[in-house]
Amino acid sequence: MKRILFFFAVFALLAAGCCKPAGNIIKTPVPARPAGQQDVIGLTADPIETVRIGVVGLGMRGTGAIERLPHVPGAVITALCDLLPYRVEESKAILEKLGKPAPTGCYSGEQESWRGLCEQEDVDLVYICTDWLNHYPIAMYAMECGKHVAIEVPAALDMDEIWGLINMSEKTRRHCMMLENCIYDFFEMTTLEMAQRGLFGEVIHVEGAYCHNLDPFWDEYWNNWRLDYNQKFRGDVYPTHGIGPVCQVLDIHRGDRMTTLVSMDTKSFNGAKIASNHTGMDVREFANGDETSTLIRTEKGKTLLIEHDVMTPRPYSRMYQVVGTDGYAAKYPIPQYCLREEKPADQVDAKHISDEKTYSGEELKTLQAGYRNVILTEELERVAKEVGGHGGMDFIMDYRLVYCLRHGLPLDMDVYDLAEWCCVAPLSRVSLENGSMPVEVPDFTRGAWNRVKGFKYALAEE
Ligand SMILES: NC(=O)c1ccc[n+]([C@@H]2O[C@H](COP(=O)([O-])OP(=O)(O)OC[C@H]3O[C@@H](n4cnc5c(N)ncnc54)[C@H](O)[C@@H]3O)[C@@H](O)[C@H]2O)c1
Repeated sequence: MKRILFFFAVFALLAAGCCKPAGNIIKTPVPARPAGQQDVIGLTADPIETVRIGVVGLGMRGTGAIERLPHVPGAVITALCDLLPYRVEESKAILEKLGKPAPTGCYSGEQESWRGLCEQEDVDLVYICTDWLNHYPIAMYAMECGKHVAIEVPAALDMDEIWGLINMSEKTRRHCMMLENCIYDFFEMTTLEMAQRGLFGEVIHVEGAYCHNLDPFWDEYWNNWRLDYNQKFRGDVYPTHGIGPVCQVLDIHRGDRMTTLVSMDTKSFNGAKIASNHTGMDVREFANGDETSTLIRTEKGKTLLIEHDVMTPRPYSRMYQVVGTDGYAAKYPIPQYCLREEKPADQVDAKHISDEKTYSGEELKTLQAGYRNVILTEELERVAKEVGGHGGMDFIMDYRLVYCLRHGLPLDMDVYDLAEWCCVAPLSRVSLENGSMPVEVPDFTRGAWNRVKGFKYALAEE
């Protein structure tokens, strides 16, 4: 009898909403904003007629940037830096072949040779393409030197680095943008336009991923930095390609914000084998699970599912699924849209498993044609496809970065986007190391997440 009374008492308290199990979420500290600083929402800087760029890190990705940036109107590469001197020489040769002026400063040979590039007077933007561990010190010093920074993905690896970049951008009023190219892929840009025009009703759930079998690449990274990082750290260490495009659809820190995250991973089945083959040593310990899944909830009651898998022969996928109250979009594995179809009552057949109208193939193209993204002029699309970089999206990213700097406009991605997209790595690790407990996602804007309503591209008045 006592047990029944106890049960009813607990039930009554829970039903009244006044009894939450203690410790059901891991709190994430938010450092106080340093005195005198303000947020950088909508940050603008003086227009720069010709954007002078210093590129640091001239490996696979940096070399791609050297091939693209000279084609961007109003951009000029004035400085190059890599630890390895021969890589600087190779990039100089690319510029020469393109008929572009030689950079005025070249730096190499020392771990911190990039200091010279950050200090160089004729550099407005420091464009960072090094391995992950070097992103943060270079970006911090560049902003201290008064430069804008663009940092490859993931820009920051832990919460200290994330808050460090936010504080430095707020203090110096310099742009600090992550080079998340996937928001500029054609399907994503068109689908964002569709979502913003309400085609899917209210978007309530999204999915993003980085599923990419990196077998052909492991040997290519300088000093084995990527496999080494995966070997040491659990969690979704490469979340930004998956989460970036879907956060734009959800207007994260432009009317909604992520609040809670939960993560689960498989054990590492392949990691140790791959590391053993790669290093020739008997590797037994490998922290990163082959497959990591992270669920995130937002203030407005929406959900995101983000996956990471670089260890299996699963086909390449960034997932990109958008689920709305009235429609659905998916890029992988098969690009398609589904919309509700109004049918007369006598044509509704309950035996059909699904009764929505599906758009794929030619019908998909026709539907997309009515939703051209506002920034994607036909000329930009043509040049982007010609110059290339993941089919053109890398060029559009560079173009938009330089365009906004030239016109003194806010960039498409600010330091809070960088923070939100990067925080999945350290916070998923916290969740995993605590039995998949929910972890609080902080408000990186420190109070301003609801000030701007809806994601918008800034455009110059012509
Ligand atoms: N956005 C994308 O689609 C995409 C694709 C691939 C890689 N990336 C990112 O680009 C970055 C670079 O990747 P990668 O594949 O080119 O790696 P990589 O190993 O080919 O190149 C890294 C380069 O950094 C240089 N470097 C290392 N320490 C340095 C230092 N102290 N100073 C100057 N240079 C230094 C190395 O010499 C090397 O040339 C990573 O952040 C990666 O995640 C992004």
